[in-house]
Amino acid sequence: MIQDELKKAVARAAIAHVVEGEIVGVGTGSTANCFIDELAAIRDRIRGAVASSVATRKRLEGYGIVVFELNDVEYLPVYVDGADEINTSMQMIKGGGGALTREKIVAAVAQKFVCIADASKLVPKLGTFPLPVEVIPMALGHVRRELARIGGKPLWREGFVTDNGNLIVDLGGLAIVDAVELETRINQIVGVVSNGLFACRPADVCLLGTAAGVKTLTAD
Ligand code: 5RP
Repeated sequence: MIQDELKKAVARAAIAHVVEGEIVGVGTGSTANCFIDELAAIRDRIRGAVASSVATRKRLEGYGIVVFELNDVEYLPVYVDGADEINTSMQMIKGGGGALTREKIVAAVAQKFVCIADASKLVPKLGTFPLPVEVIPMALGHVRRELARIGGKPLWREGFVTDNGNLIVDLGGLAIVDAVELETRINQIVGVVSNGLFACRPADVCLLGTAAGVKTLTAD
């Protein structure tokens, strides 16, 4: 099965996790877009959605799905989003699309994080995918130097500006042993807004698209 079909399959499977009559948190990226396409078919059975990016908001609104501001939402039973990498502990690297900070905020509010991913995203060890770090523009030089001290190779994603008006540095060449420690450590660097490690708040479940069908994974 080609990757796009796997993405559509996990997006369809994620609909079973949407709670009727409630608001659903929606991630960003090509897999999340497939989920939005599926959500459109049941839009009359949900109150609406919270978007993790401007692009996601536009796609949801294009289907006539009501989009709430997160600050107006007190209860968010589920958040559905893709990942760039996920391990068997349900820890992820996210932010390939640069929406990591808003994704992390919506995930923090949600009761349940459902990760939807094709089989290529499941890795034995996180870190082959360069770790995105969102940075306040005036701190770019400082943050790059501090990230280099951690041991990786920081590369500024030139020309890219996040929905929050910030910059992204992609930290490559990492051998991530303790993802919780690394997530916490990078967040301590002054000028870092957040980083794409989702280890302190991992996914609760991963719907993994494989040639043999959609597998449901939880932390080992
Ligand atoms: C965007 C993300 C995405 O979830 C991640 O990049 C995966 O995207 P895709 O589903 O297109 O592979 O974190 O910031």
